[in-house]
Amino acid sequence: MTIQDFIPSPYTEIAKNASVSYQSPSNIALVKYWGKYGEQLPQNASVSFTLSRCKSETTLHFEKKNKGGYDFEVYLDGVREEAFEPKIHKFFQRVEQYLPFINEYRFVIKTQNTFPHSSGIASSASGMSALAMCLVALECQLYNDKSNLLQNNSYQLQKASFLARLGSGSAARSINGPLVVWGAHPKIEGSSNLFGTPYPYKVHENFSNYHDTILLVDKAQKQVSSTVGHDLMHNNPYATQRFEKANSNLQELIPIFESGDLDSFIALVESEALQLHAMMMASSPYFILMKPNTLEIIDSIWNFRKTTHSKVCFTLDAGANVHVLYPSGEKKQLQQFIKNELSKYCKDGTYIDDVVGFGAGVI
Ligand code: PMV
Repeated sequence: MTIQDFIPSPYTEIAKNASVSYQSPSNIALVKYWGKYGEQLPQNASVSFTLSRCKSETTLHFEKKNKGGYDFEVYLDGVREEAFEPKIHKFFQRVEQYLPFINEYRFVIKTQNTFPHSSGIASSASGMSALAMCLVALECQLYNDKSNLLQNNSYQLQKASFLARLGSGSAARSINGPLVVWGAHPKIEGSSNLFGTPYPYKVHENFSNYHDTILLVDKAQKQVSSTVGHDLMHNNPYATQRFEKANSNLQELIPIFESGDLDSFIALVESEALQLHAMMMASSPYFILMKPNTLEIIDSIWNFRKTTHSKVCFTLDAGANVHVLYPSGEKKQLQQFIKNELSKYCKDGTYIDDVVGFGAGVI
């Protein structure tokens, strides 16, 4: 697939006014994307678990108007959220050539998250992927021709992922599940820089229903946004090695996913999280997004693993919160450990129990 494949043929129908609603989850990267080029293209391939409980639910109301450019308003939890509008404006500018109909509509975007807005959990992956699903659903209504590419469900999902990527890179991985690769990788068939694809090879049952409990260490807005962080990779002296390492880590995951070797999984996933943060510390200007409690939690997880032989591990996003990953068979023991030992490091004792899921869908 090339970029040209996402430019639509002339529309044959008119959709007057109605609405479409989709939900889409967040995802947690095991091999991280950090560094981009061109129009939201990743410098290395990444892979993530799609989550199920942390999601955005979005309704796109649309009303046909005369040409003259798109027009929209954004509501979060029923309240107009003008602070989101510059980001959506930029997204609409980027997707215009792939969705030319948007210029003839007035939109009202109503969205809500199942996780607290102020939790420090990035809502851009779930929010942008839910909006992309809505836009593709609307575009489907503009054709009655059964042979049109958009009648094909897998193309619809590819286009939604392609569009979501233009809103937020990691959003490309939220459309599908439970494991999604984004970024062209020579060992992963069908992988592309343009959109996320379901991981195509064998995955051991050890990874079914994998759990992710997200410990909310810091609920404040990050001091350095991911946009700025990605940008700083351009002058990072370790960037080339990092991009190579991420790609080789992804390759190493293939036999790990197949055999269910959780010790190797843990070593690789924790190393990836720390490398992401090492890149931040090696940027110029340098920055640290972890907090003292992030390190307390990592230390407790390491101690717990040593004393119990549990297969729990951690990963991090671009922030201070810790994602605690563990196999479903350890659920009871881990939830006890989190409640008794880790919740004291969380802001107001809060954490979110999530589990791997299957991606976006109609509401
Ligand atoms: O999608 P963005 O631009 O917010 O970047 C997200 C980057 C990380 O969450 C840190 C890693 C990843 O692959 O999701």
